[in-house]
Amino acid sequence: MADTDGVKESKQFYEDIPMETPGFFLRGSGSLDWGMKNRLSRVFNPQTGRTVMLAIDHGYFQGPTTGLERVDLNILPLEPQIDAWMLTRGILRTTVPPTTNKPVVLRASGGPSILKELSDEQIAVSMEDAVRVNAAAVAIQVFIGGQFETRSVHNMTRLVDEGLRCGIPVLAVTAVGKDMVRDAKYFRLACRICAELGAQFVKTYYVAEGFETITSSCPVPIVMAGGKKLPELDALTMAYNAVQQGAAGVDMGRNIFQSDAPTAMLAAVREVVHNNMKPADALDLYKTLKSEKGNE
Ligand code: R5P
Repeated sequence: MADTDGVKESKQFYEDIPMETPGFFLRGSGSLDWGMKNRLSRVFNPQTGRTVMLAIDHGYFQGPTTGLERVDLNILPLEPQIDAWMLTRGILRTTVPPTTNKPVVLRASGGPSILKELSDEQIAVSMEDAVRVNAAAVAIQVFIGGQFETRSVHNMTRLVDEGLRCGIPVLAVTAVGKDMVRDAKYFRLACRICAELGAQFVKTYYVAEGFETITSSCPVPIVMAGGKKLPELDALTMAYNAVQQGAAGVDMGRNIFQSDAPTAMLAAVREVVHNNMKPADALDLYKTLKSEKGNE
């Protein structure tokens, strides 16, 4: 038996200080389990509640997209400035060093190429593999109003069920068909369906009219999709408006890696998202950084 005689009783129980039970910083995420909250806290900055994700997953349906021909040369140098990767497991395993400490949002749907009906997707990654590569979240396309709407929703709900088992959140990406109207009414519908059916966060496009009705009626965080390449000021203005109108950050691809100076553009986007920098000031920052050696 251990001899405890003479051991000084010096423990501190702080009986007069109640233990705090803090809430969670992300919209609609307070009831999630610890692992899922921890992963979301890697994707979203707990200080600002926002994220700057870099989307480079385009190759999964359209091959070597302009700017992504050589991810090793053109994209890896951007890593220090991003909050999270959004990419495929192919690019992850072949090209991204496992020493990266940036969280990975893993593209988990696929199937058709740009030559076919894009809504005809399947789940393309098992949750086991997402765990194996230490994914912080998985991303899946949802085609509301598309030809294979029901299947894409079912893909998402299956992934949500598997994600809940492992503590891996699902990012639902609202995909818009070529002939569909991109307005607030459509995106309210699409985002709300994704959240109602279990997605822990949603990626959607910005619309000039009524974007705040999309964010306010979606009970989980929304990240703004970048879309096709715009002039830098337009892209910075879009990101600014989105976060001011309730988005929890951005997931941008072409507007960063197809910019004349991707490093400078990413720095400007970060200021807009995390520090509410005005678009004109962010454009000045972009130009200044672009003119510096190494960023041109
Ligand atoms: C969009 O549906 C896909 O996820 C894309 O491959 C990518 O994320 C789009 O990024 P961006 O439109 O900003 O180039």
